[in-house]
Amino acid sequence: MSDSAEMIEGVDPGQMLGDFATPLWFPRFREGVWGPWSLRVIAMSGARGYWGRTYNLHGTVILMGPFEKDAAAWMSIVPMEIESQEIGIAAAHGHTVVLGLGMGWCAANVALNPAVTRVTVVERDPDIIALIETLGVFGQLPEAARAKIAVVQDDALTWRPDGAVDSLQADIWAKFVEPRKWDDVRRMQDNIDAGSIYFWGQEMELWRLACRSRGALPERLEEGELAALVAQTGLPLISQSGSGYEDRIAEASRWWTPKEDGWWDAR
Ligand SMILES: C[S@@+](CC[C@H](N)C(=O)[O-])C[C@H]1O[C@@H](n2cnc3c(N)ncnc32)[C@H](O)[C@@H]1O
Repeated sequence: MSDSAEMIEGVDPGQMLGDFATPLWFPRFREGVWGPWSLRVIAMSGARGYWGRTYNLHGTVILMGPFEKDAAAWMSIVPMEIESQEIGIAAAHGHTVVLGLGMGWCAANVALNPAVTRVTVVERDPDIIALIETLGVFGQLPEAARAKIAVVQDDALTWRPDGAVDSLQADIWAKFVEPRKWDDVRRMQDNIDAGSIYFWGQEMELWRLACRSRGALPERLEEGELAALVAQTGLPLISQSGSGYEDRIAEASRWWTPKEDGWWDAR
């Protein structure tokens, strides 16, 4: 058996997605440990997607890694992770910067988008970079997509590109809602000056801004409210305002934001 054949053994997480359907691509993964990170294949019977619907599943591949004083699931191939990254994947174009490599899934799908000419992935952790290399994740892509990708080991909060960046997809966080997210995204954009931005969980952070501006939990986002909130951020956020996006955000927020009143003020 050749090395490359050996590398692509393992499981296809797309086959474990049960009644969740997506046209997006999945590499095969193998279980293993890389420094403080581990990839595991686990059984699962169901899970909630980002937009609130529940799906029957068979299992998933999950990336566990260090978080604060403990460990956390940083990424897994489940409907919630797929739905919360697909808007950015679809909108990516030209030179796209992906901040946070994780399981390489988002970067691979960005590279498969024909509107994308080049993908620069910035990842701070050498063990994550080794994991993706050992498993040959990008080597499983068609050559035209694989050739677009370059991985840089650096801190996403300080890294600066060597040229113009058309779109930015950022996912360096373990949780949807984190008090520092807006500050992180602003720092990224100050350094990168991307033409458009999609960041993981941005809908929940926009919901935070809606709560903050009303001083209470809204029932729903009114027409024009979301566009005004996006405009107030001063960031070129990819938004689907007016296409049912507002209602989807309101539904998702029921599941993925903290339950305590006033959470939106935490800074
Ligand atoms: C949630 S995972 C990304 C998952 C990825 N979107 C995928 O589709 O597989 C977050 C990644 O960001 C990395 N990361 C966290 N903070 C970072 C930073 N400041 N700079 C660069 N990478 C960072 C983590 O090591 C991890 O690999």
